[in-house]
Amino acid sequence: MLVSAKEMLQKAKAGHYAVGQFNINNLEWTKAVLLTAEELRSPVILGVSEGAGKYMTGFKTVAAMVKAMMEELHITVPVALHLDHGTYEGCLKCVEAGFSSIMFDGSHDSIEENVKKTRELVQLCREHGMSLEAEVGSIGGEEDGVVGAGECADPKECKMIADLGIDMLAAGIGNIHGKYPENWAGLSFETLDAIQQLTGDMPLVLHGGTGIPEDMIRKAIDLGVAKINVNTECQLSFAAATRTYIEAGKDLQGKGFDPRKLLLPGTEAIKQTVKEKMQLFGSVGKAE
Ligand code: 13P
Repeated sequence: MLVSAKEMLQKAKAGHYAVGQFNINNLEWTKAVLLTAEELRSPVILGVSEGAGKYMTGFKTVAAMVKAMMEELHITVPVALHLDHGTYEGCLKCVEAGFSSIMFDGSHDSIEENVKKTRELVQLCREHGMSLEAEVGSIGGEEDGVVGAGECADPKECKMIADLGIDMLAAGIGNIHGKYPENWAGLSFETLDAIQQLTGDMPLVLHGGTGIPEDMIRKAIDLGVAKINVNTECQLSFAAATRTYIEAGKDLQGKGFDPRKLLLPGTEAIKQTVKEKMQLFGSVGKAE
C-alpha cells in the first residue's frame, strides 16, 4: 500500500538522515527502485514529473502500475508515489489518480499566488490523507521542460509557505537539475541554515541530487534536509550500461536482442545507483 511521505520524512528529519526520491520513467525504473528499497529495508519516494507521467500514458496508469507492482513483488517498506514539480492542474489530476503525495511548484508565480494555491492544496491533501511539498526559490537548470533560474530562496518566504501546513519544503539553495557545470558555486549552506532556523521541524527537500559531492550531501542533511531528489544520475547509469551491452555486440549474440535481456544491464545499473544513494543518505534499515 502506498503511504503519504509525511511520517517517513518526519522520522528522517528527527533521525538525521534523508529519504531518496528517485524519479521513475517506465516499468524497469519502477521495478529497480522498489526492489532496491525492499532489499535495503529503506523507505522510498517514487517521483513522477508531468513529462514522465505523460510518457507513461497518464498518472492513472502510473498509479495502477506502482500499486500492482508493490503487491506482486511483496514490497513491505514504506513507499510514497509523488508528483514532482507539479502544476496546479497536475496536482489535481494526481489526487484523482490515487497518488499518495504531490509537489506543487509555485516558484514561478508571485509569492502571493504561490501562498494562495499552496493553501488550497494543503486543504485538499488533508482531505485525502496525502502529503504536500511546496517550493520557494527556483532550482536551476531544466527538468522535463521545467526551467529555473536557480536563485536562492528568501528564508522569510520559506517560513510563510511552511506555516501553511505543508509536509516538506523545497528551497532553492544554489542546486541545479541535471549535471553541475564546472564553475558551479556549490550549495549555499548559509541560506539553508537560515531557512532551517526559521522553519524548525519542517523536513527540507534538496532537489538536483545528481552530482552533489558527498560532503555537501552530509552537511545538507545535518542542516535539516530530509528528502533528496535524484533523477539524472539513474538515467546516466542506465544509458552507460546499455551502451556497454550494445557496443560489446551482445544484442547480436543469440537472443541478446530480447528486450528483457537488452534492458537488464541498465536496470541493474539503476539498482546500483539507488543503493549507493540510500547508503549515502542514511536511509538503509530505516523502514521499520
Ligand atoms: P537531478 O536530475 O539533478 O538528479 O534532479 C532531480 C530532481 O531534483 C527531481 O525533482
